[in-house]
Amino acid sequence: MMLQNKERFLEYLQQNYQINNIEQIYPPTVGKSNIFFKGNVIETDNKIFIKYDMNYCGSSTREAQILQLPKFKNSPYFSNVICYEDNDFPFVAFEFIEGIMLNDVLSNLDLRYELLHNKKQKKRILLQLIDIMKILDEEKIVHRDIHPKNIIVTRNRNDKIDKLILIDFSFSVGVNRFPELPYLIASKRLKFLGTKYYKPETYKWDNQYSIAKIATEIEPNCDKEFPDIWNEIYSFKEKLIYKLTL
Ligand SMILES: Nc1ncnc2c1ncn2[C@@H]1O[C@H](COP(=O)(O)OP(=O)(O)OP(=O)(O)O)[C@@H](O)[C@H]1O
Ligand SMILES: [Mg+2]
Repeated sequence: MMLQNKERFLEYLQQNYQINNIEQIYPPTVGKSNIFFKGNVIETDNKIFIKYDMNYCGSSTREAQILQLPKFKNSPYFSNVICYEDNDFPFVAFEFIEGIMLNDVLSNLDLRYELLHNKKQKKRILLQLIDIMKILDEEKIVHRDIHPKNIIVTRNRNDKIDKLILIDFSFSVGVNRFPELPYLIASKRLKFLGTKYYKPETYKWDNQYSIAKIATEIEPNCDKEFPDIWNEIYSFKEKLIYKLTL
């Protein structure tokens, strides 16, 4: 985004959406499609997170519309959308989430020990993953980019894990609605969408497959340590897939 456009965008947000104190921010794990800002809603002073789509590809509307479906809106495990548009300045604004990425919890030994040490902690998180998978299934949404860099972990007052929040619905699709964004087909990005390890085939996406991978990252012996949870995850296998035949 050119500096001149950026200034216009900030003015636009202030005038049309009553958002101020806007500043560009640089989250650690991002794709190449967006730039990010934080700001405040003038009326409430609530802090918000803004994702600006540099490709003008329709991903802001896609993400906002999915997250505004009733089951997502009423669940604690997804971001709250404040406003969005795909016209002059394609963006979506969310309530700001203070948290860390699941990826960091899994890869940092100290954090992992602190937050995912005992069986009780692991079980709580695995059950949340199941809730997330069920809501995707009920709304017939294939997320297509579920991996630990797209899950925010929030903490409670005792500094333990409060909950997981699944983010980044930019390129999600739905059954009989939310079809493939034309931009994605043209851009050849589909090959890499979802990263190889978390999807069953290059052009096949299955929420359950990604969730099962994450479950084994939380507990490598998930099947033996938590057989009921493991079986429940597996009962969703191949239930809702999105497959592309090119
Ligand atoms: N509501 C939020 N509040 C605070 N930080 C957020 C929020 N949503 C996302 N983030 C941070 O911004 C980063 C990037 O967000 P996101 O994953 O939605 O975009 P992206 O990966 O660049 O998208 P794309 O897959 O479309 O290229 C996240 O990894 C997270 O650190
Ligand atoms: Mg992401």
